[in-house]
Amino acid sequence: MLYRLIYVSEAVGSTGASTLSIAQILGIAGRNNRRDHITSGILFHDGWCLHAIEGARVDIDRLMRRLHEDRRHRNIRVLVDRPIAERRFCEPMSLSRNPSALLKAIGSPRMETMTGREAERIVDIKQAA
Ligand SMILES: Cc1cc2nc3c(=O)[nH]c(=O)nc-3n(C[C@H](O)[C@H](O)[C@H](O)COP(=O)(O)O)c2cc1C
Repeated sequence: MLYRLIYVSEAVGSTGASTLSIAQILGIAGRNNRRDHITSGILFHDGWCLHAIEGARVDIDRLMRRLHEDRRHRNIRVLVDRPIAERRFCEPMSLSRNPSALLKAIGSPRMETMTGREAERIVDIKQAA
């Protein structure tokens, strides 16, 4: 059974804002997620991270434990955690190149009050783009 979990978190320091911080996350995530058969997409915007993760329960749970310990972000809020019929992402870790446009396309919700429904719509739009 496959699951999709989507969370938002608050970036700490330069996380998501500097090219280096993004490259470091993409590097380790690409390697680990490929190993764990996780597909994933991440969006950084204005001090927030929005991250969708797809894979087997055990692999998602293991990744979430690591994410909770990572000081580069805090206040992880899970918006979606449900079984899925098929994956929406095809890469171990893909970065959204135009987060503002994606958010605008669903009415520019605020990250701090983002709902699961809004997060799923972002995934849908990203997929169609
Ligand atoms: C916003 C954010 C997203 C991350 N996404 C992933 C991810 O998808 N996969 C992953 O393995 N690590 C991810 N990491 C890094 C993990 O928190 C952790 O540092 C890493 O998995 C440790 O890997 P290691 O045990 O191989 O050193 C992310 C970190 C941050 C701050």
